[in-house]
Amino acid sequence: MAMRLRLDHVTADYQIGPVRSPRVLREVSMSLQPGTFTAVVGPTGAGKSSLLKVLNGLLLPQSGQAEIGDITIDGKSSKRLLKAVRKRVGLVFQFPESQLFAETVEQDISFGPLNFGAHPRNVHALAEKVIAQVGLDESILYRSPFSLSGGQKRRVAIAGVLALEPEVLALDEPTAGLDPTGKEELLSLLKQWNKQNGLTILMVTHDMESVARYADDVVVMEKGRAVFHDSMRKLFEDTERLEKWQLDVPDARRFQLEFEVRSGTRLPRVCLTEDELADALIEVGRV
Ligand SMILES: Nc1ncnc2c1ncn2[C@@H]1O[C@H](COP(=O)(O)OP(=O)(O)OP(=O)(O)O)[C@@H](O)[C@H]1O
Ligand SMILES: [Mg+2]
Repeated sequence: MAMRLRLDHVTADYQIGPVRSPRVLREVSMSLQPGTFTAVVGPTGAGKSSLLKVLNGLLLPQSGQAEIGDITIDGKSSKRLLKAVRKRVGLVFQFPESQLFAETVEQDISFGPLNFGAHPRNVHALAEKVIAQVGLDESILYRSPFSLSGGQKRRVAIAGVLALEPEVLALDEPTAGLDPTGKEELLSLLKQWNKQNGLTILMVTHDMESVARYADDVVVMEKGRAVFHDSMRKLFEDTERLEKWQLDVPDARRFQLEFEVRSGTRLPRVCLTEDELADALIEVGRV
């Protein structure tokens, strides 16, 4: 059964030694439908990473609650419940490759499933499955994670989370530091898992071009609040709002706006990629 995620007036802060930090999430309510690809954007410090941590049971609500399918977590949830949530919502941290530690890639990937009670006899097949899923050759399972390239390490780290067979994959800036090809390849993989396997994806990113190309929906975080949650196309309709939230406008949309001002011709729709822009220009007879 596909699982819905819901936050209901979630407020959260961090315990720093004896004191609590200022609130990092303020009355955040949202509902994420199964099978959606949602980007989470917003300025630095807005609470994007904290939002992912709440959904994965790593940061507990101070007030309000989070529903992960039929599990409800609040400030008093038990360790057992939180562990169940961690299996359902796989969290890929920023630069996840920094957490690789085992002697071989296979051992690294197997660590999570074994920890969650998978039978040792089954983990090899699982490792083979997820290494193929991230587009790497099976032979890499027997190598040291430290002998791999940056992009390969990143994929291995993501494979380790996929090995938990989560229903939701939450990724914190998964393309940070990758070259353009590596970035494009990783985003295509995410899109493929989303469309073909119905994996629900939540991705924090600063890259609005990626949002425009890959996301269905967008959540904008600002000062601990979710100030926008709607379709990606809706977000780019109103560019003034984007400036206020310090969000970039995709190149195609920027070109469209300049064109419309200069030519006095309105294009029939919001264009977010070069292809869409080319089609719209043809339709109005400008190409
Ligand atoms: N472990 C922590 N202890 C105390 N405060 C924290 C901790 N992690 C984050 N914060 C604070 O919580 C607020 C929100 O941080 P968060 O990491 O969720 O923001 P973000 O939107 O992910 O930012 P960025 O784009 O820089 O990654 C910030 O003010 C940050 O300083
Ligand atoms: Mg962050």
